[in-house]
Amino acid sequence: MIGNFTYCNPTKLYFGKDALEGLNEELPRYGKNVLLVYGGGSIKRNGIYDKVVALLKANGKEIFEDGGVMPNPTIEKLQEGVRRARAAKADLILAVGGGSVCDYAKAVSISVHCDEDIWDKYFIRFEDVSCEIVPVGCVLTMVGTGSEMNGGSVITNHEQKLKIGHVFGENVFPKFSVLNPEFTFTLPVYQMVSGIYDIMSHILEQYFSGTDDNTSDYLAEGLLRSLIHSANIAVKDPLDYEARSNIMWTATWALNTLIAKGKTTDWMVHMLGQSVGAYTDATHGMTLSAVTMPYYKFILPYGVAKFARYAVNVWGVDPAGKSQTEVAAEGLNRMEAWMKEIGLVMNITELGATKAMLDGMVKSTLIMDGGYKVLDEADIRAVLSASF
Ligand code: NZQ
Ligand code: ZN
Repeated sequence: MIGNFTYCNPTKLYFGKDALEGLNEELPRYGKNVLLVYGGGSIKRNGIYDKVVALLKANGKEIFEDGGVMPNPTIEKLQEGVRRARAAKADLILAVGGGSVCDYAKAVSISVHCDEDIWDKYFIRFEDVSCEIVPVGCVLTMVGTGSEMNGGSVITNHEQKLKIGHVFGENVFPKFSVLNPEFTFTLPVYQMVSGIYDIMSHILEQYFSGTDDNTSDYLAEGLLRSLIHSANIAVKDPLDYEARSNIMWTATWALNTLIAKGKTTDWMVHMLGQSVGAYTDATHGMTLSAVTMPYYKFILPYGVAKFARYAVNVWGVDPAGKSQTEVAAEGLNRMEAWMKEIGLVMNITELGATKAMLDGMVKSTLIMDGGYKVLDEADIRAVLSASF
């Protein structure tokens, strides 16, 4: 049964090879001062920076720069960004980059006019925004997180060994996002594949929960089939526009709140992955792939009917003459083989995790209660131990 919900996604999207032209429509809506936020320099090397700056200038904007946003943005960098946004009196924050840059821009936007401790308020106490928000627009260059069309923001606190995401309400969603698949062509294959798995994990986190008949689960299966199909093409030919554009679009739908509506969700793969990320600073999607199989094998007995449905509808397993458990296990086996084939990291050792980190990672893992089994500390230890 579909539960009660309200649905609103206010982000306007510009998709395709000419999507950047959308800035000409959007920029006039905002004041003169634009804080241009970007990462470690990829946009300068691939020319996207020059294109964006030209459009900002053509629209009469004064540009204030905030570069150097690192993958898995830190609380220290966030505080620096808030200072820059305040000094610039920013009317718009334009994020040009991947999920890290978009997440960071949203975190800056809700902190500029906040006089409380932003880490405690947003990422420890999970409070809502209670101040004015500086609008954010995104030009996406790395596909995976869905940050371009959601209210999520994930910040890392290395001192506290915590990586925490807060999903904010629709007022924090980007006002607009530019999605040009060609802007992702310069991504290293490792990042592309990591992003592909981030998308898959987002869909599965929302799929592996609940036993009701829910339209969202059918949408999820369709998205997964499209993703697997396009990923197989993209790993062989990363410049295949059709495949890359499908992956980009799937990423957006995977985490723009639609397929979570009216159903319960899990998110334990992300909680485990974020804990690994807090200790290793590893690439987000790879932290997810590295803990996925130990986690899903652990919870399979508690959600066997859904795992069997997944095996048949997504991986094409023939159920004839097999028990539900056999079908479910075959589905996971096919998924595992595919993950290896496309080059995902399958253990946390490869990401720099050591046994000495285990106690800390167990403690840093937030426990969610929407999955097929609510894990306790011993379960988390077992799953992480099996992930080395
Ligand atoms: O920093 P630059 O030089 O731009 O390089 C980046 C970075 O090193 C590079 N890159 C991006 N676009 C490129 C490119 N290199 C060449 N050509 C391009 N076109 O890719 C590297 C990774 O970028 P990053 O933004 O860190 O990756 P991603 O998009 O995976 O974002 C990861 C962050 O998003 C959070 C993660 O936890 C992590 O902090 N997430 C946000 C979510 C949300 N908002 O809903 C949900 C996700 O589950 C995730 O947790
Ligand atoms: Zn993710």
